[in-house]
Amino acid sequence: MNSLRVLLGGLCLALGLWFAVSVFVDPSAPEAARTFDSSVSCKDCHAQVYDEWQSSQHAMAWTNPAVRALSNDFANQDCIDCHAPRPIFVSGIGERVLPRASRRVEGVDCIACHLLPENEDGSPGGMAGTIANSNAACRPVQRVELQRVEFCAGCHDQHETVRQWKASEWPERGEDCLSCHMPYRNGDSNAGRNHQCLGGNSLELLKSAVDLRASREAGTIIVELENVGAGHSFPTDERSRAADIFWRPLGTEEDSKQSWRHLYRFRSPYRFEVDIVDNLLLAHETRKIPLDDPEALGSIEVALFYKRSPHYENPEAPDPEREAVLVQRVVVEL
Ligand code: HEC
Ligand code: HEC
Ligand code: HEC
Ligand code: HEC
Ligand code: HEC
Repeated sequence: MNSLRVLLGGLCLALGLWFAVSVFVDPSAPEAARTFDSSVSCKDCHAQVYDEWQSSQHAMAWTNPAVRALSNDFANQDCIDCHAPRPIFVSGIGERVLPRASRRVEGVDCIACHLLPENEDGSPGGMAGTIANSNAACRPVQRVELQRVEFCAGCHDQHETVRQWKASEWPERGEDCLSCHMPYRNGDSNAGRNHQCLGGNSLELLKSAVDLRASREAGTIIVELENVGAGHSFPTDERSRAADIFWRPLGTEEDSKQSWRHLYRFRSPYRFEVDIVDNLLLAHETRKIPLDDPEALGSIEVALFYKRSPHYENPEAPDPEREAVLVQRVVVEL
């Protein structure tokens, strides 16, 4: 009798312990759904994504000095829309992106890209992701729209970057905005996507975009630039982007370096620059530019420079080595 009681008591204790452990320690137990009002709150659980995002242009969309200058410190309210946006899934993919009123300093943040609209009962709608997990505090839900170019288009098509991509061979080749700008970490499709969103700020990407060649043909030098790696025109998006080809005679070693001479510029003009023609280098296009100059009869070097702002301090004697980024350089022998 007594031994049965002890056995039963022991069983109850064991069951109770199991129950306690399963509620408080079981890692698969659901966490309460949370409401998120700042991207900083994602950091505890998504540290790597957070760090990558913080180093991205998206994170500095509100604080970027170039944007503040051009928008007159956002006195131009039209500029707030894409630089401190409300969540895209809330304002609607394909709809106009809308400005938000709070924590604008976070720019294009986690919440702008991931937060889903509230459920009908007012509970948090969770985060758009590649997987669903109803146990996680942020309640991710699988939403394929997040991968589509239309998602980026709300902000990145005002200067036709997405249309340029659509008109190219890249969609057929299965390469979209994410393949090149948010590649899988270490090329592993289970490792998530790099949130640094590198673009014209990355020398490596710039180098992969184009192929610069130059050769002598019947006394003239033909410079060629081919768009081999940009999924759209080169350059693209902001009209401030400019790519310039310069050249200079190659002196003997004792000679001091000659200054660079300007040959050609690829750019899409601002609306008021009526005398400039839009001549961006389309995806897959090769542009041939003749260089006919008596000073180019000897050996010369030709170089491509990229600039995020189109202006040179001294337009009469531009100094690309100081004010722009050297992307590629070739030598044409005598
Ligand atoms: C809510 C608007 C918005 C959405 C949506 C958005 N972006 Fe951006 N993106 C921006 C803004 C604004 C900047 C520039 C911020 C700055 O420099 O001040 C930017 C910058 C970038 C850059 C850096 C460009 C450079 O000059 O180096 C890349 C690359 C980029 N975005 C890719 C993407 C991709 C890919 C997507 C889709 C997954 C996307 N963006 C979605 C607004 C957006
Ligand atoms: C429809 C969305 C949208 C609106 C509205 C918008 N921007 Fe942008 N802005 C972008 C995107 C996307 C980029 C990144 C493109 C790129 O890097 O080439 C960007 C980049 C920039 C940059 C380049 C930053 C750099 O570091 O080179 C400046 C400057 C800028 N925007 C200023 C403005 C100003 C001024 C306004 C208001 C007149 C404005 N933007 C309104 C989407 C927008
Ligand atoms: C308390 C921890 C916690 C916080 C805070 C949190 N998350 Fe999560 N998140 C998780 C967990 C756990 C998962 C599920 C991971 C899994 O199943 O592989 C997840 C998954 C996700 C996914 C889907 C992942 C995928 O592979 O598709 C997205 C997107 C996401 N979180 C975004 C956010 C954003 C944005 C924030 C901030 C607004 C946030 N999370 C805050 C814990 C958290
Ligand atoms: C095949 C690869 C590839 C694809 C696909 C691609 N890009 Fe790019 N993108 C590049 C390269 C390389 C650069 C750097 C050269 C340049 O600046 O044009 C770049 C630059 C940019 C820039 C910086 C602006 C500039 O010209 O400096 C933005 C913004 C951008 N891409 C947005 C997008 C968007 C949005 C999509 C999807 C419609 C997309 N890209 C698709 C390769 C790609
Ligand atoms: C410009 C839009 C954009 C911003 C800003 C952004 N994400 Fe993402 N995020 C994406 C896209 C696009 C994917 C990939 C979706 C896919 O592959 O289906 C993604 C994927 C993820 C995933 C899945 C796992 C992984 O590592 O890729 C997590 C988790 C996530 N984001 C969290 C965050 C957090 C946290 C922040 C802020 C620190 C953030 N995201 C900022 C667009 C964004």
